[in-house]
Amino acid sequence: MRLRYLVFWLPILATSFLLSAQTTLRQAADQRRLLIGSAAQAGEYGGLNLLTDTQYATTLASHFNMLEGENAMKWGPIHPSATSYNFTGADRLAAFAREQKMKLRGHTLLWHQSNPTWLTDQAKTATPQAMAATLKGHIDTLVGRYKGQIFAWDVVNEAVSDSATANGTLLRDSPWNNQPGIGLTGTAYIEQAFRWAHEADPDALLFYNDYNIEAPGGKFSAVLNMVRGLVARGVPIHGVGFQMHLTTSGYPNSAGLRENFQAIAALGLQIHITEMDVRLPVTNGVATEANLAIQAATYSRIVTICLQTPACTALQTWGFTDKYSWVPGFFTGFGAALPFDASYQPKPAVPAMLNTFQTIAPTLAANAIVNAASFKGGAVAPGELVTIFGANYGPATIVGAALDANGLVSSNLVGTRVLFDGVPAPLIYSLAGQVSAVVPYEVAGRQQTSVQYEFNGVQSAAVSMNVASTAPAIFAADSTGSGPGLILTPGYLVISDANPAPAGSVVIVLATGAGGVVGGARSGGIAQGIGQQTAAITATIGGWDADIAYAGPAPGLVNGVLQVNLTVPKGLIPGVYPVVLTVGGARTQDGISIAVR
Ligand code: XIL
Repeated sequence: MRLRYLVFWLPILATSFLLSAQTTLRQAADQRRLLIGSAAQAGEYGGLNLLTDTQYATTLASHFNMLEGENAMKWGPIHPSATSYNFTGADRLAAFAREQKMKLRGHTLLWHQSNPTWLTDQAKTATPQAMAATLKGHIDTLVGRYKGQIFAWDVVNEAVSDSATANGTLLRDSPWNNQPGIGLTGTAYIEQAFRWAHEADPDALLFYNDYNIEAPGGKFSAVLNMVRGLVARGVPIHGVGFQMHLTTSGYPNSAGLRENFQAIAALGLQIHITEMDVRLPVTNGVATEANLAIQAATYSRIVTICLQTPACTALQTWGFTDKYSWVPGFFTGFGAALPFDASYQPKPAVPAMLNTFQTIAPTLAANAIVNAASFKGGAVAPGELVTIFGANYGPATIVGAALDANGLVSSNLVGTRVLFDGVPAPLIYSLAGQVSAVVPYEVAGRQQTSVQYEFNGVQSAAVSMNVASTAPAIFAADSTGSGPGLILTPGYLVISDANPAPAGSVVIVLATGAGGVVGGARSGGIAQGIGQQTAAITATIGGWDADIAYAGPAPGLVNGVLQVNLTVPKGLIPGVYPVVLTVGGARTQDGISIAVR
């Protein structure tokens, strides 16, 4: 969900968000609005609770904002007998995530591996009905227990065969499929698992997760076809997890990975990179410097592609320290696959990723620039307060407007700038992914303006916007763009259902996009007194003309906020009525109302 802030009246002192030498992956990813995660071990095997190991815990919490159990939530550890669950490891992870304000991913509800013997035995003789009940019971129990804590689940892991092709989704054998599984054929058993997970937590994001789908080819095509079918049938699936277990071979090539990401994004799904590691040939656990450099370049290349793909919302490594990694046990002769070494020291991959986070241009879409009052797009007008969504590089927490040495609303907030034809715009607030600015009056008279977003000196590509003389909209009281307007009594109380305006009384409507002011207005200036808009302004309430006593700058607020004092028509009976301003022939948005008594 997009946050919608309206804080133009708050000059908040800016604190510095400039990155220091001690920047962690987490801080850098927070500024990119990207989740950066790691698989973690919580003592699910052998009772060793790594989360109580200070070096393990502090490295994990300082460099990552997301975590996932490497094994703790798999069937074997968490459901050790038909009638019992062991939540010890999973609960430790959940508690750690809560304490360290990290997002928690769940892995996994349905897989052909890590299944307990009681389950694989049961699958040999049980009826499909009994298997279905077992699976549903497990999904209900896990998803239900961590409802509101696990924001995303790998519902189904690795269900597609390595030899699948575009022509047919070849599914693997598993206790849940075809033996006779839960009694559903084809992808129907997968679909059922997603539906059960969704019922158990309607707010959780549900993922299909797999490996060797990073490059175009048969397996990816099969996964894409399956997922496309699920989406078409309205199955609650929200994303695809790309495991990304890599070597230094150059797999996947960048173009192919981008192509696959685009294909998933085109279905309206998110992408999580879920299990990244880059294994290296090792001698006595030691990799060559040359290979460590290739590894660093590989991590940074994948971060780049993720940052440049708006649908790619999380990047997770499969563990973070070479001290604890599945690689040496599973790939003979390989190791050293993770960003930190066995002593928790950053390997070259860490500065490489940090550098990528700090240098890749933020993405900015043309439809991302909208009126700050209505959140509607279209042409921009001089002095209009606009909100820009999606620029994925900025301060991790919101920073509000500040005045500069000249008493003007500053056009540089902790390294954020928004340029209109190179002119920096006064900024209302800045947050990675959402920034609000005042369109400089300098765009007046132009047909188009070229907009660039900048953070810490890194600029987005320019987006061309049409310029209009006015583009009016009324602020909503709750900053959602519609509903009760930000309309005040002469005593500055917000009018609401609980505080309706008397018919015949004067009210103050706050709006923006009214264009120029007679005599000119300075970009970023605070309106000192009354003035007059260049454009003609009329108002209606409930379709009746409302007399305007004043329409111009709002004294004390930044130039670009329009204040209209109007009289609620006398004859109105109590009720909620639409409010519309017409400014230079352009109407404010539908859906703004005022309560009248
Ligand atoms: C691996 C774990 O890392 C090992 O500790 C465990 O013994 C086996 O499973 N794909 C997945 C992960 O989806 O769950 C696997 O994790 C690695 C491959």
